Amino acid sequence: MQTMQFALSPFSVALAGETDFAGWRNAARKLALNDISPQAVTWVIDTNAADEDKTLPEAPDTTSLNVPRSFVTRAESVICHRDSERFALLYRLLWRLRREPKLLEIASDPDVRRFEAMEKAVGRDMHKMRAFVRFRRIETSNGEHFVAWFEPSHFIVERNAPFFVRRFTGMCWTILTPCASASWNGETLSIGPGASKTDTPAEDAAEDLWQTYFRNIFNPARLKVQAMQKEMPKKYWRNLPEAALIPDLIAGADEAAKEMIARTPTQPAAHHAKVQALHWPATDAHADNEDGNYTSLDAMRNAAISCRRCPLWRDATQTVFGNGPPDAELMFVGEQPGDQEDIAGKAFVGPAGKVFDAILTDAGIDRQKTYVTNAVKHFKFEPRGKRRIHSRPNAGEVQACRWWLDKELALVNPRLVVALGATAALSLLGKSIAVTKMRGEVVERIDGLRVFLTIHPSFILRIPDEAQKEAERRRFLNDMRAVKKLMA
Ligand code: URA
Repeated sequence: MQTMQFALSPFSVALAGETDFAGWRNAARKLALNDISPQAVTWVIDTNAADEDKTLPEAPDTTSLNVPRSFVTRAESVICHRDSERFALLYRLLWRLRREPKLLEIASDPDVRRFEAMEKAVGRDMHKMRAFVRFRRIETSNGEHFVAWFEPSHFIVERNAPFFVRRFTGMCWTILTPCASASWNGETLSIGPGASKTDTPAEDAAEDLWQTYFRNIFNPARLKVQAMQKEMPKKYWRNLPEAALIPDLIAGADEAAKEMIARTPTQPAAHHAKVQALHWPATDAHADNEDGNYTSLDAMRNAAISCRRCPLWRDATQTVFGNGPPDAELMFVGEQPGDQEDIAGKAFVGPAGKVFDAILTDAGIDRQKTYVTNAVKHFKFEPRGKRRIHSRPNAGEVQACRWWLDKELALVNPRLVVALGATAALSLLGKSIAVTKMRGEVVERIDGLRVFLTIHPSFILRIPDEAQKEAERRRFLNDMRAVKKLMA
C-alpha cells in the first residue's frame, strides 16, 4: 500500500485490491490514531501498491485504537461490497465510533443504515453463490477437474472459497467469475484473476443430473412463482442447467400437484434419526500418530465414525468400515454399503454379500481370513416411498473416501486386492476401467500393489434370466478360483 498527496484530500490510500482488508485496516488505524478526519482521505485501488504504506504518519505508541470487535468482523464482510464508497464509509464509521461508541445501535443513522444494507447484500450474494454454483466436469492431465462459472454481484469469491473447500474437499475444482477465480487442487486453495464465461467448458453429463434432481425436488403443491423468483432471481438462470425446466414446470404445476398428493410420501425410515444420533459424535477424525496415520484398524475405524469428508454422512445411518484380520493377505473392495449394511454397520451382509459369501465358499476362499471393505464408506441412496434405493457414488465422493481406503491398504498391506466392480477399480487405480472387458486381469499399481479386476456380485443379482444368472455366477466363481490360485 502507498500514499500520495492530493490537493483536496491530503491523504490518498492505495489498496492492493478490491478486498484488501488488511491494507484498509492498517491505513485506517494510522489515520484514526493521528486524528485525520474522513474528509481528508481518499481511497483508491492500485494493484501495484506496496504491502506496507511508508507515507502515512506512523501511529503514536502511546494511544491504542479501541473499536468494537463486531465492527471489525462486519467490516470484513462489507469490504466485499461493490460500492466504491465502502472504504470511505468504513473509515467514517471507525472515526465516529471513537467518539460515539454506541453508534452501531442507532438504526436511523444514514451511515449505519448503509453499512447494514451493504453487509446484508454481501451475505445474500454469498448465499446465492453457495446455492447456484454448478460444476462441469473436464478431464485434465492430472485427472478429473470440475469447473464452474458464476457471476456474483460483489467481490465475494475469496471470502466464500473456504465454504466450497469444506463442501467439495474430495474434488479438484475451479470457480471462475468475472472478478476473481478460486481453485482447489485437493490440498491448496488459490485465488487468481477473473475470467470470462467462454473459459468455462461446454455442457457435460452433470447438467442432466441437475435437471433430473431439480425435476425431482420441484414441489408443485408449494409453487409460489414470485417467491421462487425472489430466491432464484432471473439473473442466475442463464448459468443454471435446471433453469431451462422452470417455465414448463410452472405451466404443469397444477396437474403435477394432484399427482403428488396421490403418491405416497417419501420419508426416510423412522429409525434413521435415532440411530444416526447414536453414531455421530460431532468430532473430527484425528489420526493417532504425528504422521497423520493410524496405528491400528480399530483407531481408524473409530475415527471414521465421525468422517465428514463428503456430504454422504448426512443421510447415511453410520460409517461402514472394512472388516477382517489386520494382517489379511487378500483384500476385497466393493463399491459402498447397501441398505442392510448401512443398518448393520458391516460390509457385504445384504443380498450381494450373500451371493459373494456363497461363491467364496465354493471357490475355497475363507472370508474370515480376508479383509472386506468398500471404496465409499457411507450408503448413498434416494428415498422412494419407504425404500432407500442405492445410488452410485460420484467421482468426488470416491475420491474423498479414497483417503480411508489408502490408509486401510497401508495398514493391512495385502498381497492382492480384488476390485469388485467399476467403483472399486476407480478408487484403487485412479481411473475409469471397463471391468467387464478387463475382468480376470491383474493390474500392478506404481506402488507394486496388485489389483485383480472383476465385476461386482450385485451384477449377478440384477440379471433377470435364470440361465444367464447362473452363467454369470459361474464366471464370477472362475474369477474367485483364479484369485485363490494367485494367493497359493
Ligand atoms: N455392495 C457393496 O459394494 N458393498 C457392500 O458392503 C454391500 C453391497
